[in-house]
Amino acid sequence: MTNPSLCLVMLFLCFSLCRSQLPIPAKIDGFVYKKPTVWGESVVVEAFLDPVCPDSRDSWLPLKQALDYYSGRLSLVVHPFPLPYHSNSFTACRSLHIANKLNSSSVYPLLELFFKTQEKYYNAPTYGMPRASIVADMTKLALTAVGESFSTAFYSGFNDSSTDQAARISFKYGCSRGVAGTPSFFVNGMPLSNSTLDYNKWRSIVDPLLSKNKN
Ligand SMILES: *[C@@H]1O[C@H](CO)[C@@H](O)[C@H](O)[C@H]1NC(C)=O
Ligand SMILES: *[C@@H]1O[C@H](CO)[C@@H](O)[C@H](O)[C@H]1NC(C)=O
Ligand SMILES: *[C@@H]1O[C@H](CO)[C@@H](O)[C@H](O)[C@H]1NC(C)=O
Repeated sequence: MTNPSLCLVMLFLCFSLCRSQLPIPAKIDGFVYKKPTVWGESVVVEAFLDPVCPDSRDSWLPLKQALDYYSGRLSLVVHPFPLPYHSNSFTACRSLHIANKLNSSSVYPLLELFFKTQEKYYNAPTYGMPRASIVADMTKLALTAVGESFSTAFYSGFNDSSTDQAARISFKYGCSRGVAGTPSFFVNGMPLSNSTLDYNKWRSIVDPLLSKNKN
């Protein structure tokens, strides 16, 4: 079809898309689990998880079992991905970035704390709560993982624009990979179409990859 106005619309769309460069962070997004060598011999899983999402919570235990089983041969990078319809998720994701800044070994303990207690941060029970009290509550929770000595620092982490930026980058990173729900998993860069994975499913995905890797 040679419709000149359609061509103009296409041209305009192309220009506006080309112009919108996402911000490039100084460091690649994500929290590396137990810091193994990510590149090389191991299979790399990228997980997009929302700390207040029940499906993300349910996916964590089987993945952790697989990580324990494979030890250094399975690497994990978690990207926090705040779903917009979970009202407190961005604050929770930001807490993870604050924790990472103050005491990086507390990120996974804090993520697990969120999974354990996420019900109190769901939309309905927090409907009438001001944001300041949610921040105070999450800070209290986080300090049990990060360390009580970081009390003041953690609180002011919520006023630090770099932690806001980091949480935004996490979200944009997920968007750029086409993530639209959590949990979402990528194995060696490729998206898994079904994110409901028990331990045996993880084994059936990772075992053949590792045996091919040996040759
Ligand atoms: C950092 O976090 C880890 C894991 O929660 C904890 O064991 C350690 O005591 C914390 N460090 C400090 C200085 O509080
Ligand atoms: C953070 O900013 C808010 C709003 O600007 C302010 O009320 C609060 O005192 C600040 N908190 C810290 C710890 O700096
Ligand atoms: C995904 O996998 C689970 C468990 O193996 C299964 O119950 C479910 O039906 C699958 N979903 C889709 C959309 O294939």
